[in-house]
Order: sequence, then C-alpha cells, then structure tokens
Amino acid sequence: MIPYGRQSIGRQDIKNLNKVLKSNWLTQGPLVEKFEREICKFVGAKYAVATNSASSALHISCLALGLKSNQYFWTVPNSFVASANCGLHCKAKVDFVDIDKDTWNLSPEILKNKLKKIKNKKKIPKIIIPVHFSGQSTEQKEIKNLSKKYKFKILEDASHSLGGMYKGEKIGSCKWSDVTVFSFHPVKTITTAEGGMAVTNNKKIYKELLKLRNNGITKDIGDFEKKIKSIWYYEQQSLGFNYRMNELEASLGLTQLKRIKKFIKERNLISKRYMSLLKDTPLQLPSIRRYNYSTFHLFVVRFKSKLLKKYSYDKFFNYIRKLGVGINLHYLPIHLQPYFRNLGFKENYCVNAEQFSKEAISLPIYYGLKIKEQKKVVKIIKDTFNNFK
Ligand SMILES: Cc1ncc(COP(=O)(O)O)c(C=O)c1O
Repeated sequence: MIPYGRQSIGRQDIKNLNKVLKSNWLTQGPLVEKFEREICKFVGAKYAVATNSASSALHISCLALGLKSNQYFWTVPNSFVASANCGLHCKAKVDFVDIDKDTWNLSPEILKNKLKKIKNKKKIPKIIIPVHFSGQSTEQKEIKNLSKKYKFKILEDASHSLGGMYKGEKIGSCKWSDVTVFSFHPVKTITTAEGGMAVTNNKKIYKELLKLRNNGITKDIGDFEKKIKSIWYYEQQSLGFNYRMNELEASLGLTQLKRIKKFIKERNLISKRYMSLLKDTPLQLPSIRRYNYSTFHLFVVRFKSKLLKKYSYDKFFNYIRKLGVGINLHYLPIHLQPYFRNLGFKENYCVNAEQFSKEAISLPIYYGLKIKEQKKVVKIIKDTFNNFK
C-alpha cells in the first residue's frame, strides 16, 4: 500500500537520537530550548513553547489567551477534532464557521456575516481558531481586520503548515494573530514522533504558556508572589498540566528542521506533477492563492463526477484502496461527530464543509514518494473512473 503520508527519518536523526539516549538528560532540557530558539528563528516569532502535541499546545494557548467557561470560540468544521476540543477543555462553547468552496479554508465572508448577525454581545467569540487546511494559509489579513472590530483573539492552528508562507511572511510570524500552533506528528512537514509548539510575539502569553505546560509552576524569581530568592524555591501559580516535550523529541525536531526546505520543495513538486497528470479528470484540484506558499502537507482532490452520485463515495474509496493506494479522508466535519451532535449540532449547519467531506480524498504525498509510485496512483484513479462508467 502506498500510504497517504509518512515521515522521512535520516541518518543524522538517528545519530543524534543515539547521543541523547546515552546522555544524562532525557526530559525537557537544553535541546528543547534550542529547538524553541530554532523554530523562532525559522518562522520569525519572538517566543516559542514546545509541547508534547499540537493538541496540548492548542489547549494551553486557549487558556493563555484567557478563554473562560461559557465564553464562545469559533473554528472550522473541516479539521482534526483537536481544533475544537482545545476550547471545550476550557469549558467554553464551540461554534463553527463554514469553509470557502475553493480554498477549503475558513471563509472570511461567512465569518463576517456570522459576526454581523450576533445581537447578544456575550456571544461574540473570545477566540477564533482558523486552520491552514492542508498547508495553505487562511485569509489572515481579513480575519485580523474583523478581530479589530469585534475584539476577538486569533489562534492559528498551523498544524499542517510549518514552512508555509502568506503574503511574504512565514506562517508562525504571528503578524496577523496572537498565537500560532504547529504539530510534529509523523505525517506533518517535520516530525518529533509526537510533539507540538506554540509561538507568539507576546511576552505575557509566552510566560503563561510556560507555566501551563509545567503544572502551573514557575521557577522565575521575577514572577514569584513571595519575595524568596533561594534557588530551591518554586511556585505553582495556576492549574497547569504536564505537556512538556522531551529531549529525544527535541533532538529529532532539530535535525528534521535542517531538512524542512527540501521536504516542502519536494511536496510542491509532487503536487505540481499531480496537477498536471490529473487535469483532464473529473476532479476538483487544490486552488492555491498566488500570495500563498503551501506546504502541501496533504494533497486533497474532490470527486466532482456524476459517477459519484451513481456509485457512492464509499464504493470509489474502497475500490482505490483495494488497488493499493492508501487514500484517506480529511475531514469528516467536526460538528457531525457524535460528541458534537450531543451538543446540538446537526446536518446543514455548515453545508460547504459537509459537501466537501462527501467528495474529498487525500492522495499520497510525502518526501520520498517516487515518480513511479505517483504515476501508479494517477493510473489507478484514472482507471477507476473508466471502470465505473
Ligand atoms: C489541523 C490539526 N490540528 C491539530 C492536530 C493535533 O495535532 P497533534 O496530533 O500533534 O496533537 C492535528 C493533527 O493531525 C491537525 O491536523
């Protein structure tokens, strides 16, 4: 089976991991700090806090941005559930903004209209969490402009887009947001096995994130409530978690980061090849705005064929899988998951995302995918259309 995504572990990754294993330091230490500094340099942000996943980074970011129980936060339905769970863990109320039909990212128009319709000020979201779906940035400028009028914070879920660019700025520069979160899960642009990172330009938020990652504890003398300067002293000032990254993960992150440009360049090459090989098929191909550089974490296409109505998505999907192509679905709409239905969400709430989920398939894309394998994928897709006619 050709998978839809996979990591690339090199000799240097393994060599450095071995060094860490033989060292005295396995838990969060100097390599984590170095990884944070390198990510800051790479994306152009002032502060970074490494965590054990993007899910945990999203959670403490919501807390650090001041999300309180019963306040609202909004995100998109076509994302991984973590984009919504993070706010629910703060006991806040979730709502969803539908996606744009072309970019498959949060639609600024729909967002604008949804905000306009709010009569009760208490229902204005405290935080909006746009997701850079598949590696292409959302329309950050438009969202930022709306945030000035409605006073919400912006938490970018950039799990898919470390290394991507928007209007000449690296994703993570936080030029148009308060915090940006990355994931280092194995199918992402670089991996630490499990891991995440929150970056920000705001020192106060940064300090809050540091505490929340470490059970609410600070060891920073300047922040103590008591005037004690002893080196053994520490204070727990809030209710935090153990969301720390360890040295093994940071080591892997550091060596992976050295190859990120190569990884993303190849993902862009693969996507260009798909665009050309698939242009005469009844598929809607990704539409990348000219001011965006996508990481192509995913290569998603939509079955626009009438054949789909006749044969069903399920049948096409199983057929292609049986032929050895590990296609996948990103994503089932979050609001239609049983947990969210129990909160009151139903069909026809976000029609664009719902229609998208009935047609979208993720094709294999990763560093190391051979041209021969890619051509096999394309042939199988084309043959599938012919066989189903
Ligand atoms: C958009 C999005 N947000 C958040 C996450 C959560 O990332 P992690 O697995 O690092 O917790 C993922 C992971 O797939 C994701 O795709």
